Amino acid sequence: MSRTVYVTSPIYYVNAAPHIGHAYTSLAADSLVRWHALCGADTFLLTGTDEHGLKIAQAARKAGVTPQAHADRYSKPFRDMCDRLDVAYDDFIRTTQDRHKAVVAEMWRRMKAAGDIYESVYEGWYSVGDEAYFTEDELVDGKAPSGHTVEWVEEPSYFFRLSKYGPKLLAHLDAHPAFVQPQSRSNEVRRFIEQGLNDISISRANFDWGVPIPDAEGHVAYVWLDALTNYISALGGPVGERFARYWPTAAADDVGVEHHAVHLIGKDILRFHAIYWPAFLMSAGLPLPSQVFAHGWWTNEDAKMSKTAGNVIDPFDMADRYGADAFRYFLLREITFGTDGAFSETALRNRINGDLANDYGNLVNRTLGMLMRYRKGVVPARGTSDKEHDAILLAAASQARAGAEQAMGDLAFNQALAAIWGLVSAANKYVDSTAPWKLDKSGDDGRLDEALYNQVEALRVIGILTRPFLPQKADLLLDWLGVDPAERTFEATARWGGMPSGAKVKKGKALFPRIDPPKAAPAAPAPAPAEKKKEAPVSAKAEESGVIEFGDFTKVELRVAKVIAAEAHPNADRLLKLTLDAGEAEPRTVCAGIAAAYAPADLVGRTVALVANLAPRKLRGVMSQGMLLAAGEGADVQLVTVPGDIAPGTRIS
Ligand code: MSP
Repeated sequence: MSRTVYVTSPIYYVNAAPHIGHAYTSLAADSLVRWHALCGADTFLLTGTDEHGLKIAQAARKAGVTPQAHADRYSKPFRDMCDRLDVAYDDFIRTTQDRHKAVVAEMWRRMKAAGDIYESVYEGWYSVGDEAYFTEDELVDGKAPSGHTVEWVEEPSYFFRLSKYGPKLLAHLDAHPAFVQPQSRSNEVRRFIEQGLNDISISRANFDWGVPIPDAEGHVAYVWLDALTNYISALGGPVGERFARYWPTAAADDVGVEHHAVHLIGKDILRFHAIYWPAFLMSAGLPLPSQVFAHGWWTNEDAKMSKTAGNVIDPFDMADRYGADAFRYFLLREITFGTDGAFSETALRNRINGDLANDYGNLVNRTLGMLMRYRKGVVPARGTSDKEHDAILLAAASQARAGAEQAMGDLAFNQALAAIWGLVSAANKYVDSTAPWKLDKSGDDGRLDEALYNQVEALRVIGILTRPFLPQKADLLLDWLGVDPAERTFEATARWGGMPSGAKVKKGKALFPRIDPPKAAPAAPAPAPAEKKKEAPVSAKAEESGVIEFGDFTKVELRVAKVIAAEAHPNADRLLKLTLDAGEAEPRTVCAGIAAAYAPADLVGRTVALVANLAPRKLRGVMSQGMLLAAGEGADVQLVTVPGDIAPGTRIS
């Protein structure tokens, strides 16, 4: 049976810049689609912008531009956000496009033909912020439950017979327990329906920024009817080729295709998606999506994010400062998809430095470093791999695979990642317990081959399994390993032994550089230059005592480096010219004043301490890219060396 998977994000209002809430659903949707694509499904990812309605019309008026100009201006940043976060959508729908308006009109005609639309007068409360109607008893302290203000509206309107669909919706929930998820949200929807549904107004007559309704002059479609229809208008409407391909239909299931359509949304727009939308579809005679999954909300360190509070997290800023992959990883790993979470940069840095740099990045660095060192980067023969440590590693790989698959079926992104990190940690332990450096010393070449093979094979599996979440870094790693793009599939992780022996691997810079803690903010604003002098005694005192702040020390980037080659400096007797592997794509050249104490040949293979962020300087005609730590002087000078098997590039702190 072949499978199609259609995933949608909400379409975003074009009244503000994208923030973390928008980024969250979009990147979750992207990871979900990438996961299913990895598993061989025919996938389609939809996102876009919601451009009609009173909210947008008012925002445009305030900005002194036409609603269309306003929509154009604010739609683009949502596309840019997707590009910045590697959200690889297949279509980006805008509700002001003609292709969409035609399908809204078609929905209207179908619902009317079903006898579900009638004309009346709407009298009640309307919240522009929510674009939603409220009854008197739904208000909280005279406002919408969201806190938005409401206004009294009295106008002629067309109504939809939502009341008719209560029993059908309940029957659908009974027959499809996974239709609304998480379960708590499903219960919430059920309770709401059981209280009895009222008919809803689905047209507005006192403004015109919307889709005109067929045969009803002066009316535009209620913005939620308009917006929800995007999920099928992007597929070309109910008769489109894409619709037949991706939307769940009984007919296609008969011919061996299983369709899965999932709407990812935030918890605040559940009612529209889990009650209105299925009822509209039922009325229009169309099948329902497979699932509506409502996720929780991010707060900023426990405070609600809002433009007015000025504490909104900007996804562009996060991607610039931490990298798109790391930001994606954090949002999906830190909290359960479905519950609320407090965003904090400290927690983000901890995840980067812990899970990504220490666990994943370091594993890559060690494995490839050893493969370079002991086998010149060539993948050895696989061997029999039947030792105890090998069995543990192999079992961890199949657990990671199975665990991730199961968790992704439940949209439990954090559990899927935890399952994959089970393998990352098993692979790190495998390195420690097989200790290739000891095997090298003892000359046990057969076992060293086996151990190195299994390490690099674990990287292949980890690289493939992390592709949906870390699209850039995972593929970069797989490029280093030389894994054929056609082999980067979930299926290819089922087999241990996918790395071809004899393949030559590459190794670039650290996959996930560590993030330094932010510099402590100055206690008081920086003094004006004239005032600075007055403060001189304090800093002079600090200088005298030689005491520096911790922040000053962390400015020095000390890293482990390995001497690959050494020779006499062409123009200076005192200096040696060294070539170092500092865990980067290119080796570095460093000139060191140690010629009186060391013969060049003695240095090759030594692991030394490099000041890696020193500005490069020409020393007697040779550009030196850093400095080595050493004790003593002249003929007594001794290089500071690093014992044990620490991979080049590892930070010394
Ligand atoms: N236009 C409607 C959706 C129509 S879908 C047919 C809309 N747009 S929105 O731009 O206001 O919000 C889009 C999404 O962002 C919603 O799913 C909402 O839950 C989500 N979030 C807004 N703030 C959020 C957080 N602080 N945290 C997580 N998600 C949040 O609603």
